[in-house]
Amino acid sequence: MLCWSSILTGPIIVLSIHRLLCVVGAEALSVSVYRPQPVLSVSPSWLSPGASVTLSCEVKPPSAGWRFFWYKAVPHFQVIAYSFELLPGSSNETQQNSNIIHGQKHTAGYVCRAGRGEPKFYTDYSDLKFVWSAGRSFCVSASLKVNPNRVQYFLHDSVTLSCEGNSSEWRGKILTESGHMSSFNCFIWKTMTGSLCVENSPWYNGVYWCESGSGEFSNAVNITVQDDGIILESPVHPVTEGDPVTLSCRLKQQKLLSDVFFYHNNTLLQNDGREELKISAVSKSDEGFYRCEHSGQESPQSWMSVKGADKKTFDAFNLLNHFSKGETFFC
Ligand SMILES: *[C@@H]1O[C@H](CO)[C@@H](O)[C@H](O)[C@H]1NC(C)=O
Ligand SMILES: *[C@@H]1O[C@H](CO)[C@@H](O)[C@H](O)[C@H]1NC(C)=O
Ligand SMILES: *[C@@H]1O[C@H](CO)[C@@H](O)[C@H](O)[C@H]1NC(C)=O
Ligand SMILES: *[C@@H]1O[C@H](CO)[C@@H](O)[C@H](O)[C@H]1NC(C)=O
Repeated sequence: MLCWSSILTGPIIVLSIHRLLCVVGAEALSVSVYRPQPVLSVSPSWLSPGASVTLSCEVKPPSAGWRFFWYKAVPHFQVIAYSFELLPGSSNETQQNSNIIHGQKHTAGYVCRAGRGEPKFYTDYSDLKFVWSAGRSFCVSASLKVNPNRVQYFLHDSVTLSCEGNSSEWRGKILTESGHMSSFNCFIWKTMTGSLCVENSPWYNGVYWCESGSGEFSNAVNITVQDDGIILESPVHPVTEGDPVTLSCRLKQQKLLSDVFFYHNNTLLQNDGREELKISAVSKSDEGFYRCEHSGQESPQSWMSVKGADKKTFDAFNLLNHFSKGETFFC
């Protein structure tokens, strides 16, 4: 790999296969490498059932004549990393720099790279990008459970994040707000023999998920942690159409607040002094961003997703005791 310059002396360590970082003493320089770099974007970031996922791969600096290669990441058991598999079928190589994935139902990670000429010159792989599923599914061998059931926390709140499901090995991952991918407690593969991979008290704002030794990604949760102020209590998993849901708002040491303003997509929804926002039967139009406000303090906003009731999954997950009613997407 090319990672040198006449001004760099001393040890040079390649930290990442995706981006070269030359570390000289305490100083980390992000070196723009001599090779063109592919930059992948994935849209949307959160799956909704039935929607398509669009991948776009841009070569920087831009130039012509590329073909694009598309890969899906598979959590790799041996190392703390991923292996990349070409997407199946005709979507594995395209002339356009975008690619549409239909029918993706669970969390997935993608990378791309570009190649041109004969013999083929390939760029490096792009950074790994994800599309997240908020819903747990018994069709995936990993699921992340969050207890208590909310997405906003105060620092030092007692929270349990556990990896469960039909696999014997686990690791937990975080993508922090600053884009840094890290691991939570059970970052190395933990063998599940009755015990779970558990993280108490998350520290970072970011998206949390689990990976199974059998190569699958769990549902993901976007957790907000703050030291002070107020937080919104809203459900972690998608709410099923027709079910009741209650949102509330609280201070660090205090129980629920009254005189709270609740907002849906920045529109004031309720300000009549009640402590809770109760929706007796959720519908698709209740989906969106929620936040609350009290005496001039504002909570962060969190996304609440709503999914259609599905009879088939209801019957199926009744058989499995680690899922509760209404929780899963169909496979
Ligand atoms: C990529 O797609 C082409 C066309 O469908 C197929 O022939 C080829 O086997 C695929 N390659 C891999 C590695 O899946
Ligand atoms: C759990 O995994 C085993 C081994 O991979 C498989 O045979 C079994 O069908 C799975 N069970 C469920 C409920 O998915
Ligand atoms: C709220 O915003 C989301 C995302 O922009 C949108 O999908 C949803 O339809 C909006 N809902 C309402 C009632 O405005
Ligand atoms: C997670 O939630 C925060 C706060 O609402 C938001 O700023 C951020 O964009 C979300 N991240 C993702 C990946 O959705």
